[in-house]
Amino acid sequence: MSGTLGIDFGTSNSAAGILQDDRPHIIPLEGEAPTMPTAVFFDYEERCMHVGARASAALLAGDEGRYMRGLKSLLGTRLMRESRMLLGERLDFIDIVARFLAEVKRRAEAVSGQTFERALSGRPVRFHTGDARRNEQALVDLTEAYTRAGFGEVSFLNEPEAAALANRAALQPGDLRLVVDIGGGTSDFTLFRHGGADEIEIVASHGVRVGGTDFDRRLSIARVMPQLGRGSEIRHAFGKETHLAPNAIFNDLATWAKIPFLYGPDTLRAATDLEKHALHPTRLARLVKVLKEELGHDIAFAVEEGKISANDPRVSDPVIQLDMLKKGARLSLPAEMMARKLSKLADEIGEAAETTLRQARVEPAKVTHLVFVGGSSLMRVVEEALTHRLPEARVHRGAALTAIVDGLAMGTATAFP
Ligand SMILES: Nc1ncnc2c1ncn2[C@@H]1O[C@H](COP(=O)(O)OP(=O)(O)OP(=O)(O)O)[C@@H](O)[C@H]1O
Ligand SMILES: [Mg+2]
Repeated sequence: MSGTLGIDFGTSNSAAGILQDDRPHIIPLEGEAPTMPTAVFFDYEERCMHVGARASAALLAGDEGRYMRGLKSLLGTRLMRESRMLLGERLDFIDIVARFLAEVKRRAEAVSGQTFERALSGRPVRFHTGDARRNEQALVDLTEAYTRAGFGEVSFLNEPEAAALANRAALQPGDLRLVVDIGGGTSDFTLFRHGGADEIEIVASHGVRVGGTDFDRRLSIARVMPQLGRGSEIRHAFGKETHLAPNAIFNDLATWAKIPFLYGPDTLRAATDLEKHALHPTRLARLVKVLKEELGHDIAFAVEEGKISANDPRVSDPVIQLDMLKKGARLSLPAEMMARKLSKLADEIGEAAETTLRQARVEPAKVTHLVFVGGSSLMRVVEEALTHRLPEARVHRGAALTAIVDGLAMGTATAFP
């Protein structure tokens, strides 16, 4: 029997689900876990591509190869169509996303015993905030990746609308609920209410390209990159004057999706040059080490872990652990420092929620519930930015990591009439 697979292709994590006896059913793609990291690793020794937790494990074990995470952020950009040689094949990033999705399909079929000719995929309301052309291109890119992955047909559902579907059971007549889905790459909002019988009525949806990977980036730039020479003084090749090290390398190194692009001879040469002319070369020597030993993702993981621990009220002395630079190296990340560094991003998220309400001409006081989903909705700065703007709304925590795939599974019933 050929069916429809619901796929939540996330910036950080992905999941798959189907409808079974009228109920959503998550298909575990990796052991028992309901989600798997959206990550790939081209293993140069075994000459194959690993996906998910296996890919991240290979990276952390220091295996020889190329790791990629955050690929969803590249959709719609010119980088998607750039090709490169990987394990003897010329591949572009659409191929790489396609191979990831093909593996999701293969595993879902193996676990469920069904075949899936069609996919109902989630999508952020906006892949790119201020650029309509890029936003459209992102959907073209993702559609092409599904086609190359072997799906005959693909349809899309806004991710927060899927989460609204998954939360319809708790809905009462008179409720006006706002889904707040804060993921790795985007923040997405859907205002919805009872639509009679088992239905929901979508009142408005909106989104902004800010998510947990942007939190990681901001914290890395503020806390880690100065240790690698960001803001260092560099002597001019001739004369005594100095200038500041250019920010571009550091900004890319702090950005999950951009890290693999730094591992080439040009960037290494530029960094070595900076080290040579730096007034205080110790920090830039660390940058050279990171590029040579390809430690960019290890740093990104360390920053992400630091962020999660600084957000956890039970952790009294949160740190970013940088053993990959030097055994025992660590940078403190007190909760109030993190809140300060992330306040602008949290405000952008809060403002996007207000825009959603404005689109629907709804006063904030009319919203009865805030339904938090997505991994980054667990961030206190996010919760505060929203509860501050909608103080009357009751906070309801949905299944943070699985509400969207549940809703997509439910959506498969009507996606292909
Ligand atoms: N306990 C936690 N505290 C704070 N942040 C967390 C926690 N757990 C996960 N995150 C963050 O949540 C993000 C991943 O969330 P999620 O899996 O919902 O994103 P995604 O669906 O892959 O991304 P998107 O929907 O934006 O494409 C990551 O940035 C991760 O660091
Ligand atoms: Mg998501």
